[in-house]
Amino acid sequence: MQLGQDPAIVHEITKAVVNGTRKLVFAKLTPNAGNIGEIAKSAVNAGAYGIVAINTVGPGYHSVNGNPVLTNKVGGLSGTGIIPIGLKCVKEIRQAVGEEIPIIGMGGMRTIRDIQEYAKAGANIFGIGSSLVGMTDQHLNNYFKALIEDINNNGETDNASRFLQEVDMHYRKVRVENIINPNCDFKVIKTNQQIQAGPGQFVFAWIPGIGEKPFSIMDDNPLTLGILERGEFTRSINSLGKGDSFYVRGPYGQSTDIPEGSNVVLVGGGCGIAGVYLHAKELSKRANITSLLAAKDSDHLPYLKEFEKYGEVKVATENGSLGRKGLVTGLFDNTYINSGTYFFNCGPKAMVDAVLPLELKVSTPDKIYSSVDYMTRCGVGICGSCADEKGRRTCIEGPFISS
Ligand SMILES: Cc1cc2nc3c(=O)[nH]c(=O)nc-3n(C[C@H](O)[C@H](O)[C@H](O)COP(=O)(O)OP(=O)(O)OC[C@H]3O[C@@H](n4cnc5c(N)ncnc54)[C@H](O)[C@@H]3O)c2cc1C
Ligand SMILES: Cc1cc2nc3c(=O)[nH]c(=O)nc-3n(C[C@H](O)[C@H](O)[C@H](O)COP(=O)(O)O)c2cc1C
Ligand code: FES
Repeated sequence: MQLGQDPAIVHEITKAVVNGTRKLVFAKLTPNAGNIGEIAKSAVNAGAYGIVAINTVGPGYHSVNGNPVLTNKVGGLSGTGIIPIGLKCVKEIRQAVGEEIPIIGMGGMRTIRDIQEYAKAGANIFGIGSSLVGMTDQHLNNYFKALIEDINNNGETDNASRFLQEVDMHYRKVRVENIINPNCDFKVIKTNQQIQAGPGQFVFAWIPGIGEKPFSIMDDNPLTLGILERGEFTRSINSLGKGDSFYVRGPYGQSTDIPEGSNVVLVGGGCGIAGVYLHAKELSKRANITSLLAAKDSDHLPYLKEFEKYGEVKVATENGSLGRKGLVTGLFDNTYINSGTYFFNCGPKAMVDAVLPLELKVSTPDKIYSSVDYMTRCGVGICGSCADEKGRRTCIEGPFISS
């Protein structure tokens, strides 16, 4: 962003890149330059095949109750609010570089109307970023198909709009009402608020000045999180006392469902126990539930009484302090597993890898769902950091993903 405001530096960098590749080079420009036409011209003179405009605007300062939301305190703005700046920049660039140079216009585009405005400003190719928030793969497919139809219909239709998703990015302040297991590094925090969520969904918990991290919605009424201490954030949230506050945003992810009368086995290991409790509570209304729960010792198995309300519970501990001594795999038993059983696995990847072969022996991949903690940053589908081995964005398609 800083280098992109000086025509001489842009020329030098573009030239070096162009000389280093046989591919077509597009220079992507920051709208922060007051002289974006001149910057674009210098990129083209250095050999850029085309221009992309614009990158994010700002930085801006986004705060909640006076607290900066970004750890960096400031950050670039994207989305519909920046359309007027994008249009202004594309217009200036087109005037500066002439008609022949391709321009990929972007910045807040959502619908055929936006595309038409960018086209009139001088763009020939259209880039869409932030508007894709919250879209599943199926939504993305439908959205782009509809948008292309809208383009082919010269804007007489606007079918793509109905695939745009509303995603709640607001932070809500919640108060710690009760802490179960206060002396353990796996605590269950009950808040003073409820949340409308289904089994499998998660929230981001945010502590101003520390950061935000994703957590399964262990229970919805009141919103309850089960938190295992691992690093700075989980240590901070677990050090909160009764009456202290933190913030949440969400719920995100898909909630899971099963046909009436199904047989369901829930497999929770470590803090993964927090990820399957809401399944027990909700799915037990129309299914037979067995919960297989494993932890290193009995202290790390809170909430057992609550699990028992919704079906049979089998327990394994590594040190044998409760239930069977050993791992969760030792709890698999044909008496409660049949060929149509649904499995929901939540826990460390090693646990999921160990139980999958056992489950695949008796059930089919479409009935086996697993949630593994992939690095989840935006939580709304646009950064890609949570992609699994098959490229599925687990924050959107999951967190429980079928095998
Ligand atoms: C959908 C989802 C639901 C989760 N639910 C729970 C839960 O109910 N209870 C629970 O204790 N933990 C849960 N986690 C994991 C939890 O988010 C991380 O343990 C936590 O972020 C660690 O943060 P930290 O600052 O304490 O540790 P750090 O020192 O930052 O990290 C410790 C380890 O945690 C993992 N981690 C860190 N940041 C993230 C991130 N943004 N996304 C995923 N993993 C991360 C990495 O493996 C890292 O090595 C969940 C993760 C995801 C993706
Ligand atoms: C989460 C996120 C990550 C981004 N990462 C990059 C990046 O790595 N490189 C880049 O040139 N632009 C990046 N951008 C900017 C976008 O590519 C785009 O130029 C900008 O967001 C405006 O388009 P939009 O309003 O359609 O999102 C990012 C934007 C967002 C929201
Ligand atoms: S796409 Fe950003 S965390 Fe999933």
